[in-house]
Amino acid sequence: MSVRSAEAADLAPLALLWWRGWRDAHLPIVPKALATRSTLDSFIDRMAVAMPRIRTMGPVGAPFGFHLIKGDELHQLYVAEESRGAGIAALLMIDAENRLLEAGATKSWLACTVGNTRAARFYQKAGWTLARTQTLPSEIPGGWFPLKAWRYEKTLTQRSAWAARAESEQLEARLPSLRGSTEDEGRQAGVYLTSDGVPWGRRAGDRLGSRQV
Ligand SMILES: CC(C)(COP(=O)(O)OP(=O)(O)OC[C@H]1O[C@@H](n2cnc3c(N)ncnc32)[C@H](O)[C@@H]1OP(=O)(O)O)[C@@H](O)C(=O)NCCC(=O)NCCS
Repeated sequence: MSVRSAEAADLAPLALLWWRGWRDAHLPIVPKALATRSTLDSFIDRMAVAMPRIRTMGPVGAPFGFHLIKGDELHQLYVAEESRGAGIAALLMIDAENRLLEAGATKSWLACTVGNTRAARFYQKAGWTLARTQTLPSEIPGGWFPLKAWRYEKTLTQRSAWAARAESEQLEARLPSLRGSTEDEGRQAGVYLTSDGVPWGRRAGDRLGSRQV
């Protein structure tokens, strides 16, 4: 299972995944005025614009997550709720860092809404450092909403990109294509399990989507 460019059939499911993920992570921590403006329609519109730059994973029309790069910023990283905790985010992050490097960014940044502790934990695991808290414009229909965010930064080096790519290949070799693979096949092969050499991997008891490893 590899990271791929988004296709037209991914648009609606990606917008829904994004909207749901945004609500999961943000409804408890953002002002109500922003929550009420963050409609599904607004996410569909933004996703339609972003589609040429979206990288995703999973079957066409049924993606598990995505990332979006904007200049030197990792602008969005989302994984569907049922696929979290399974290493999907790590593979998306590796792809995002490689793309940033290929685009010439040696130092990248991302904004994580203050209080989004799960995302913050993930970024720290992935080697990003909290630089400061700042107020940034969050896109809403017809304008912007000021939102306090933790700014994370990471210096990207060629060496780490190569290492990341190798890790990605190692992890991918252990992940079956979800299409055509059965739960039993996954269990027998231990394909979701990681060795000590693979970062962020999960061991027995973890889940990939609805599948128990
Ligand atoms: C952010 C996201 C992509 C990370 O992917 P993931 O599959 O959840 O990542 P992981 O499970 O590998 O890492 C999350 C970590 O947070 C921990 N965690 C879970 N819930 C937590 C919480 N409420 N507070 C703090 N940490 C939490 C997990 O245990 C895990 O850490 P561990 O591996 O040390 O145990 C995913 O959670 C997501 O899509 N969230 C909603 C959208 C979002 O917030 N995107 C980022 C916008 S800035």
